[in-house]
Amino acid sequence: MDSSARKRKKFWRFKTLNSSITPNHVGIIMDGNGRWAERNGLHRTKGHASGLKVTKAIVAHVARSPIQNLSLYTFSTENWTRTQEEVGALMDLIATHLKAQIPFYNDYGIRIVHSGSKLRLTHRITDDLAQIEEMTANNRHLTLNLLIDYSSQEEITRAMQRLIEQHLPITQENIERNLDQPSLPKIDCVIRTAGEKRLSNFMLWQSAYAEFIYTDTLWPDFTALDFDQAMEEYSHRHRTFGG
Ligand code: IPE
Ligand code: IPE
Ligand code: MG
Repeated sequence: MDSSARKRKKFWRFKTLNSSITPNHVGIIMDGNGRWAERNGLHRTKGHASGLKVTKAIVAHVARSPIQNLSLYTFSTENWTRTQEEVGALMDLIATHLKAQIPFYNDYGIRIVHSGSKLRLTHRITDDLAQIEEMTANNRHLTLNLLIDYSSQEEITRAMQRLIEQHLPITQENIERNLDQPSLPKIDCVIRTAGEKRLSNFMLWQSAYAEFIYTDTLWPDFTALDFDQAMEEYSHRHRTFGG
């Protein structure tokens, strides 16, 4: 960790969080951009732009925390069914954001990885993802898993297909080794904003024993304080893993 990252770590506000109650891997289903825009009399695409600003602030906040892994549901495979205009705006935001943020990721010690299919994304986005993954590969402070064109059912199917191609037995261990990011630990805590209480095809396998925290706050209104409150709630959960 470089000295600036060390300094930032000191600023972690969640002082009561000790290692036994710090989740190792948090997932966020960032929902409510469209409703936020509608409530503010704006076009849905403006909601996504505001959501992106919040995403950056939350990523910076988590990078200053003891949490090691963060998975962000950015664009689901089912989201392709939205209007061409909305899909286009979302893809533009992703394409223009990714590479421009490399200095930010490196400054905060963030390693970027991608989960999802690369087959339907533009070459610009897949090339940028490959470059960002390479340029941030040595960062150790936070692994940020970006779920873009992600469907958990498709990910599990992909893992099974790889096993069949390699003539390997279908075992739990082999499936886990063939998920998109096999080195990531299981999800400890899933936060979903905007009031819906469902997974919407988010990391089904990895969330088998995750704790779920729901908030009515729409993603563009979500703050670092809301995140800390979610972590506070998580710290009071009693996890028994079936035992
Ligand atoms: C989440 O916000 C962002 C994406 C799914 C890309 P929504 O666009 O789903 O917002 P709502 O649910 O319509 O408010
Ligand atoms: C889940 O939200 C996908 C993302 C946040 C990227 P959706 O808004 O697409 O899911 P549903 O339609 O409410 O289930
Ligand atoms: Mg939604």
